[in-house]
This record gives sequence, C-alpha cells and structure tokens, in this order.
Amino acid sequence: MTKTPTYWDYLNLEKLLDSQGGLSNDEASVSEDEMHFIIVHQVFELWFKLAINEITLIRNTMSSTQIEEKQIPFIVQHINRLVEIFKLSARHFKLMETLTPQDFLVFRSELGTASGFQSFQLREIELLLGLSNEEREKQGHSDPIEYLLKIVKETEFENNIKKRLVKLKTEPSLKDVLYDWLYRTPILGSTPKEKEDEKIISKFTNEYLYKIDEINQSQLKIMQKDGLDISRMEKSFRETYSQFENFLTNEDDNKMRRVKAAILFIESYRTLPLLAWPRLLIDKIVELEEQIVEFRFNHARMVERIIGKRIGTGGSSGVDYIDQTTKYRIFPELWAIRSMLIDTKHLPNIINEDYYKFNSSN
Ligand code: HEM
Repeated sequence: MTKTPTYWDYLNLEKLLDSQGGLSNDEASVSEDEMHFIIVHQVFELWFKLAINEITLIRNTMSSTQIEEKQIPFIVQHINRLVEIFKLSARHFKLMETLTPQDFLVFRSELGTASGFQSFQLREIELLLGLSNEEREKQGHSDPIEYLLKIVKETEFENNIKKRLVKLKTEPSLKDVLYDWLYRTPILGSTPKEKEDEKIISKFTNEYLYKIDEINQSQLKIMQKDGLDISRMEKSFRETYSQFENFLTNEDDNKMRRVKAAILFIESYRTLPLLAWPRLLIDKIVELEEQIVEFRFNHARMVERIIGKRIGTGGSSGVDYIDQTTKYRIFPELWAIRSMLIDTKHLPNIINEDYYKFNSSN
C-alpha cells in the first residue's frame, strides 16, 4: 500500500522546525527573545522567496516580444500577489518591535557583523525588479553585490552567490521587459513600426505640454485677478514646465522618449476600453513600488525604536542608511508622469479613438 502523504511530509516541517537553533545550532541555548528574532527573520526570508518566484514569473511572461491582451490580467494578478507580500511584510515589523532595546542587547553582540544587509534574497529581488546601481549611488551607496562577493570569497557560498546574483545582472529585469512593452504600446493608434510614428509622438507630447502651459497661464490669471502676488507661482510654473519639457522631449534616447509618451498616453486616456488593463498594470507596479518603500520605511522605524541611532552590525550608519534606501525608485518614470497629468476635460483631442474600443479590429 502506498503511503498517503501527510501534512508534515508535504511541508517538510521537521526540517523547517529544526532550523531555529541559532549560531550554536542548539535550540536549548536560544532564549525566548532570540527565538522570536530568528523566527521573524526566517518568515521574512520565506516571503522573499515567494516574491522572487513571482517576479521571475512576471518577468518571464513579459519577456515575449508580443504580449497577448489576454495575458495582461494574469500579469496583473501576480503583481497583485507581490503587492500583498510586501504589504504583509511591512506590517510584520510590528511583531519584531515587541523586542525591547534591552532584550535585543542581550544577544546583539553575538551576531558579530551578521546583518540583514547580507540578505541575498533582498538583493535578488532588487536585481530582478531592476533597481540600478545609479539609483543607489544617488544616495551615496555602493554595489551591495560587490560587498556580498567579498564576504563569501573562498567560502562554500561563493558559487551560490555567483550563480544567483551575478548571473541575474546579465538577465533582463522586470523593469526592462515592462519598458519594452511600453515602448511597443500603440500611441494614438501608431506603433514604432509606423513610418510617421516619431512625428505622431512629438505632436502628442507637444500638444500635451501646450495644454499644461495653457492651464498654468489661466490659473495665474485667476490669481492675479484676485489680487495675489503671482511672481513666486510664475517662477515655479516656469521651472516645472521646463522640467516636464526636458523629461518628455529632450531625451537623447529615442526608446525612453517613446516609453514616457506611452505612460503619459495610458494614464491620460485611461478610460478608453483597450487601455483598461494596461493602466491597471501600471497602477499595480506603482502600488508595488509604494509597498516596497513602505517596507523599507517600517523597517527603519522599527530599527530606530530598538537600536536608536547606533551603527548597524553590518557596519552602515544604521537607521540613516535605511531611511536613505526609501528614496530608491525602480520606476521613476511612472512616478514622474503623475506630476504632469491634467484634468481630463483639458486633454488634447484624441485621434484614432476607435482603435482603443473593444470592437476594434486590432
Ligand atoms: C532588532 C531587529 C533589527 C534591527 C536592529 C535591524 C537593523 C538593521 C540595520 C542597522 C541595517 C543596516 C545595515 C547594517 O549596518 O547592519 C539593516 C539592514 C537590513 N535589515 Fe534589518 N534589522 C532588524 C530586523 C530585520 C528584520 C526582521 C528583517 C527582515 C528581513 C531585516 C532585514 C534587513 C535587510 C534586508 C537589510 C538590508 C537593507 C538594504 O540594504 O536595503 N531586518 N537592519
């Protein structure tokens, strides 16, 4: 008779529940507070594992040079799962906070230089999503993979880290494939294959910029009529307008110019039936990044509450370093477009509107 599987066999519970022995691999020597510390970290690492799986699936699904419409709901569903993982993880720090500063000090010194900074799964998540080293450098941070490679040199983990992380650097990230997809998005019914495409994109962004300026000017007029001093406002409008103009048009990179125009187009004409799923996909990516920032922020507040402004066991400035990581943005273009959106009643008239209706032949 074949043995029916049990709950504990299936979940490999024996192994899982025998992994809380700390550095001495002996549960009897682990205090209640340390057990709490170990389990909370392990649960996070399990969520990270699931997140890596989900990002890989989404990245692979989006890697195709032609993503069918019917695949978009599937992609959105999995981004939503990722959002929920990070939402839960961000709240999970509350549990960690039940450790008092003094409770932690009892075993903190035993950790040596071990730190969450060495979480290779978080690095894997960052690489898979597409966090660039330039984004880290803006905050004065260097490549964490180089650091990991140094600490694992000539240890049994060296190959593992190389296989997991260094290899990922050569693969497309979720950001790469998302931006490839945005690049191919039909804008005003035109695709990059069309001869007139560049002209159509320029016309679209120029008309949009013109509308922004028109709205700004009419707002200034109203304020002036009300007797307000508009000089500061005028300067601010001028500055932001020129930032928007640079962002949308002065891009040396043709591809990025089209990607930005596509985001602006989808966000602006979001009520068009065929744009319903693409805009949901973009919304979910923004929500995902928002949750990751919240995860980092909550970690920082928990750290501040438990160790104050002490330096970290990993050698960083501690909470100040973690707060700086909340400034990282993987998808800055998706955020930037939000400052430019205008009330739908002012939107430039759309050409080829039929292209985006459900009965369209496209
Ligand atoms: C008492 C609890 C904790 C304290 C005091 C603490 C402290 C710190 C500090 C100071 C850093 C900065 C690097 C360093 O110099 O060490 C850090 C990084 C990190 N910690 Fe924690 N941490 C705690 C709990 C956790 C938990 C529960 C997780 C769950 C995964 C975690 C994950 C991380 C990660 C992933 C980093 C790297 C962040 C990055 O580089 O973006 N930490 N932690």
